[in-house]
Amino acid sequence: MTNVILKTEDLTKHYGGVHALESANFELRKGEHVAIMGDNGAGKSTFVRQITGVEQRTRGKIIFDGREVNFAGPLDAREAGIETVFQNLALADDLDVPSNLFLGREMVLFNLGPFSILDMKGMRRATEEGLKRTAVKIPNLNNAIRNMSGGQRQCVAIARTATFHSKLTIMDEPTAALGVQETAQVENIIRTLKEAGEPLILISHNMRQVFDLVDRIVVFRRGRMVANLSKNETDGQDVVAYITGAKTGAEFEGAA
Ligand SMILES: Nc1ncnc2c1ncn2[C@@H]1O[C@H](COP(=O)(O)OP(=O)(O)O)[C@@H](O)[C@H]1O
Ligand SMILES: [Mg+2]
Repeated sequence: MTNVILKTEDLTKHYGGVHALESANFELRKGEHVAIMGDNGAGKSTFVRQITGVEQRTRGKIIFDGREVNFAGPLDAREAGIETVFQNLALADDLDVPSNLFLGREMVLFNLGPFSILDMKGMRRATEEGLKRTAVKIPNLNNAIRNMSGGQRQCVAIARTATFHSKLTIMDEPTAALGVQETAQVENIIRTLKEAGEPLILISHNMRQVFDLVDRIVVFRRGRMVANLSKNETDGQDVVAYITGAKTGAEFEGAA
């Protein structure tokens, strides 16, 4: 059995003439938490969208949990065990909190012909347990997502990742729009995932957060992976040098 949960080979995405992602060779081991850092436009979100099937890649291979995958869309990736908090939130505005948590994986009481009768009570109970586990406080679970603050919406999306045991969690700038207290809550969720042995890819610009939370830092610059650094063998200054291009990845031979 391999201890690698995710591997990409030559993963590439071009938007017309824009080389947003160029030949990424990335590897994540089971239980490992890795940060992806890089300037705006470096290709971080593009990388996530190719892995999760939001877009179809230009070329390259994705191996997840021991097999080559070609996800048709984000729900497909989710069914396979990848829970993603996208940078631009994918929550259904008109649904309440439990419905958003269970979107695409509703608990069914029974089926009546083509209709499914949903287990609303069961979903509400599981939602309360999930939120309790994450210390996220939402005053009224029946509130439609539309009526919530940006921070609360983000917390619902993140609570989703802690409610279901997934094989891989990906968070794309989860705390960029959050206040101090909400950020601390999200960081606790990430620690909970680490303790549970669940692997994570965290995209963040927050150096303090990254050094607090992850094992390894990967830097993207202009669509390329330019560094793959063990946290214990680097520091903030070093990482910034790779982000800005002051230090190049010439000596870097691809991930792991
Ligand atoms: N749908 C798209 N069409 C054309 N260009 C895109 C599209 N999405 C992203 N890009 C371009 O790809 C590059 C990488 O973007 P992105 O992955 O969003 O960067 P990051 O998440 O690191 O800030 C940028 O130059 C961006 O303008
Ligand atoms: Mg991005």
